[in-house]
Amino acid sequence: MRSISAKELLFWKKKQLSKGGDIPSLSLLLDCIGGISRNDQNSLKLNFESRIYLKKNLDYLETIWEDHLRDSIPMQYLCGWTFWRNLKLNVTDKVLIPRPETELVVDIVFNIFKEKSQRLSFAELGTGSGAVSIALALEYPFCEIIATDIDQDALDIASRNYMNSSSQSNLRFYCGNWWQPFESFKGKLDLAISNPPYIPKDTYEKLPKAVKNFEPKIALFGGEDGLSHIREIIQHAPLFLREKGWLIIENHYDQGEKVKQLFMKNKFTLVEIVKDFSGIGRFTIGRYK
Ligand SMILES: C[S@@+](CC[C@H](N)C(=O)[O-])C[C@H]1O[C@@H](n2cnc3c(N)ncnc32)[C@H](O)[C@@H]1O
Repeated sequence: MRSISAKELLFWKKKQLSKGGDIPSLSLLLDCIGGISRNDQNSLKLNFESRIYLKKNLDYLETIWEDHLRDSIPMQYLCGWTFWRNLKLNVTDKVLIPRPETELVVDIVFNIFKEKSQRLSFAELGTGSGAVSIALALEYPFCEIIATDIDQDALDIASRNYMNSSSQSNLRFYCGNWWQPFESFKGKLDLAISNPPYIPKDTYEKLPKAVKNFEPKIALFGGEDGLSHIREIIQHAPLFLREKGWLIIENHYDQGEKVKQLFMKNKFTLVEIVKDFSGIGRFTIGRYK
């Protein structure tokens, strides 16, 4: 362990940020590789002379910061970790880095299912790192949660994240194409959630380097108009949901109205577009009859 003063660390941080990048990425680096928790980072200014203990020296951290800036590699992949809600999740380039705007989906579920001790069946389609399903499994310990992904590498990461976050056993993972692994759950689900790949072809080609070159295409690309996976998920949802079961879909910033129409065409009621914290219609929710 090396130790430096809070003042030296603040100076170092300022120097790194003057080269580019953002505060959350630098904070992740200091936490996950430097070993300085985000709480400790927030209190540096309270006492300039206090001693800070580092797991790796500042030169090493600076090298990683420069790799991040030069090659646009997401800091989450360089560190192998990300924070999402109150979870610390392992991420590699096999999974999408779970986004802050997706965090809201858990609150939407809280709003629908206020009684957390019910025995319900929830499903997530396209779980990636497992973020959404793990958060729900922890909040609803009596619910049975099933999560799928088409990519076994992603499921291995999701399972590892679940084991690291919980000693419960109410979440199971299945590999397969959208609803296909859920044959035995037909008509039994109280809720299905998906944040499917929804980026349209033209937009995909123009994505920032940090996304296009590093995050899995299979997690992002939604076909010509971005809606091909969303269409498939909504069309088959009525087979798997209970009467009055809920479907929640995350969509691209401008797809809300089209997704709402797809819900209504497939006999969903109470269909609503829910805005994220930036005022974007990010989720479409509806109840099956
Ligand atoms: C946008 S990511 C969402 C990941 C995670 N749920 C989240 O919100 O961070 C979409 C996920 O769907 C998975 N996926 C893509 N096509 C699929 C398919 N046909 N069937 C099942 N999962 C699929 C991808 O592997 C990826 O993990």
